[in-house]
Amino acid sequence: MTPLAAPRVPALIYGTAWKQAATAELTLLAVRTGFRAIDTANQPRHYDEPLVGTALRELAAGGLGRDQLFLQTKFTSPGGQDHRIPYDPQADPAGQVAESLALSLQHLGTDHLDAYLLHGPSTRFGLGAYDLAVWAAIEEAHRRGAARLIGISNVSAEQLALLCARARVAPMIVQNRCYADLGWDREVRGFCREHGILYQGFSLLTANPHVVASAAVAAAARRLGLTPAQVVLRFAVQAGMVALTGTTDPEHMRQDLEAMAAELTADEVARIAAVAG
Ligand SMILES: NC(=O)c1ccc[n+]([C@@H]2O[C@H](COP(=O)([O-])OP(=O)(O)OC[C@H]3O[C@@H](n4cnc5c(N)ncnc54)[C@H](OP(=O)(O)O)[C@@H]3O)[C@@H](O)[C@H]2O)c1
Repeated sequence: MTPLAAPRVPALIYGTAWKQAATAELTLLAVRTGFRAIDTANQPRHYDEPLVGTALRELAAGGLGRDQLFLQTKFTSPGGQDHRIPYDPQADPAGQVAESLALSLQHLGTDHLDAYLLHGPSTRFGLGAYDLAVWAAIEEAHRRGAARLIGISNVSAEQLALLCARARVAPMIVQNRCYADLGWDREVRGFCREHGILYQGFSLLTANPHVVASAAVAAAARRLGLTPAQVVLRFAVQAGMVALTGTTDPEHMRQDLEAMAAELTADEVARIAAVAG
């Protein structure tokens, strides 16, 4: 199978972490409310990937097919798992990725992912031989068409540069927690911009409560008739990110989607960017 054309990535992705038994119900609700991109991981500690699949099967039965959704999941190394490691941790890195990926595809009832991410390097600084071997296995998944886009999460600018230097297929996506106090992940986003890598930001609201409560956000919210949370999510997109939200509230699902149609002025974006960092 040759790699298929790169899929379009929606500006807002619905995140399925920490929903436990409510994962299927909330994923269904999110898609029915209008989300078309879903983020999960084969990491039972934080995600219930099989229940994401349950929602997808129900959606398919109702006529919403696989081709209408952007599906993204992750390989999590043993250090990021609890006792429920969903592959043989004694296998070599290629074997671990192959088994985890096969299970993800089975959970999600599909033969390909729109994006497959390495959940994070196994070391705090630099990259180990293990990480490079895992990345080679992720490249292989891309080569054979099982993952249209490949990327990495929880990565520093130093690690990202290392990976790009060593990879045969460079990451196409970075997914990071985005702190306003770190210039909205300035260094990593700068590297992504220079190298044509798509940046996905998570914890945009929870990591930045002082920005949500700021005068700059309040002013834009007043002008647009939006809530501060909506303004921050829209700010992230206008600043060049794809935003994640994992809201469990039906009204917030609607609001987060609605925010994507709003337009902040360049001045408002600059003022919000300057609140911190
Ligand atoms: N790669 C990684 O290591 C990693 C780590 C963390 C997360 N993620 C991904 O990112 C996704 C999102 O996680 P997150 O940390 O960004 O967010 P989150 O934990 O899902 O939290 C979002 C918070 O914002 C609130 N919220 C959302 N929309 C709102 C609105 N319109 N008004 C007011 N409050 C609103 C939610 O409250 P309500 O529920 O009450 O709306 C919730 O408290 C996860 O599900 C996961 O897929 C990845």
